[in-house]
Amino acid sequence: MNSEEIFEESKKYMPGGVNSPVRAYTALNINPPIIKRGEGSHLFDEDGKEYIDFVGAWGPMILGHNNKKVMEAVKAALEYGVGFGAPTEMELKLAKYICTTVDNVDMLRMVNSGTEATMSAVKLARGYTGRDKIIKFAGGYHGHFDGFLVEAGSGVMTENIPGSPGVPKGSIENTLIAQYNDIESVKELFKRYKAEIAAVIVEPVAGNMGVVPAKKEFLLGLRDICTENGTILIFDEVMSGFRVAYKGAQSLYGIKPDLTTFAKIMGGGFPCGAYGGRREIMEKLSPMGPVYQAGTMSGNPIVMAAGYASLKELHENISCYEYMDKLGQKLQNGIKEIAKEKGISLVVNRCVNMMTVFFTSCSEVTSYSDAKKSDTNMFSKFAEHMIKDGVYVPPSQFEAMFLGTKHTEEDIDKFLEVMKKL
Ligand SMILES: Cc1ncc(COP(=O)(O)O)c(C=O)c1O
Repeated sequence: MNSEEIFEESKKYMPGGVNSPVRAYTALNINPPIIKRGEGSHLFDEDGKEYIDFVGAWGPMILGHNNKKVMEAVKAALEYGVGFGAPTEMELKLAKYICTTVDNVDMLRMVNSGTEATMSAVKLARGYTGRDKIIKFAGGYHGHFDGFLVEAGSGVMTENIPGSPGVPKGSIENTLIAQYNDIESVKELFKRYKAEIAAVIVEPVAGNMGVVPAKKEFLLGLRDICTENGTILIFDEVMSGFRVAYKGAQSLYGIKPDLTTFAKIMGGGFPCGAYGGRREIMEKLSPMGPVYQAGTMSGNPIVMAAGYASLKELHENISCYEYMDKLGQKLQNGIKEIAKEKGISLVVNRCVNMMTVFFTSCSEVTSYSDAKKSDTNMFSKFAEHMIKDGVYVPPSQFEAMFLGTKHTEEDIDKFLEVMKKL
């Protein structure tokens, strides 16, 4: 079957033909290519067409596809069997590696996705503080957990779904919404609910309303207000962790959260997540403490092996972050130059190796309301054009484009060459 036929057939057996909504390209007038394999920074579809990949499986593939070291680690682990539901040395290796190479994580609990990591971190914060309410930010996406599906970003924003049917009122009555990069909106909520707020959860570099880096004063303000009120500050680094810097966005800003959530890169391309932080909070987790959270597949040795190999590779080659930043700068400059030549209004937001091109006449995009002003029709035209010409970019205005260690100057030149033909 060719790509077209596979997608048509898939729609008969899986809603929308996909297992995660944004993959269906609902914001575009083209079908998604059906991917057969990946190598380095390139993807190949079922029709043999080649693409330069700027999606990286939505973040995890920072080391490129089919990475030799990761594949070898996975193959070696497979020799012993695929999973035992019992403690293994491999999960210790990864947990210890993260706790000793990353700041602010004394202990860690492995789970199987970013959603699991964030919802479990919130449960732990509630259990630790004995409070119910949480603050999240409009346009922030922390996975598909009911309590987070209020003014959520990412696919929820792309599909224009205000919340989601199926989420009972009771599940969101303790979710308070503040505005990203606007500390006053947070202060207002604390004035009103003060001693009821268990946690503030925030993407320190937002990636799910498109890329919108936090202002340092905003994150410092969150740190102060959480400390003053005995509220747990959760940095959701599912996307930014091991990406914008090995030690995550918190290291770029120099701010210490109480809990951090990880996923994506830490699983080396396999389903994985984790949450960790201060020892006294983590010790409230079952079996040490009363907060119950469990998982049959959690800490699976194959996943742990892939994660360990990936993180080691990144940590031992730390200059790769400078390399990705350099490529990011080249891409950002190139896009702006083309826009100027062609008279296209746009803003390019970038944090090291994650980037969004907002088609907007705003002079900057620093908030959810700025992001929403973007011309999504123009974005769709851009994305369709790029993908058709072999440059695989995210199919939504409200997602991040990623660079990895295997991207080259030639990949960036090709991106710009294709964009010039827009
Ligand atoms: C910041 C953030 N948190 C949580 C999630 C949910 O992760 P997952 O899709 O692995 O459940 C995502 C997914 O993109 C994310 O970007």
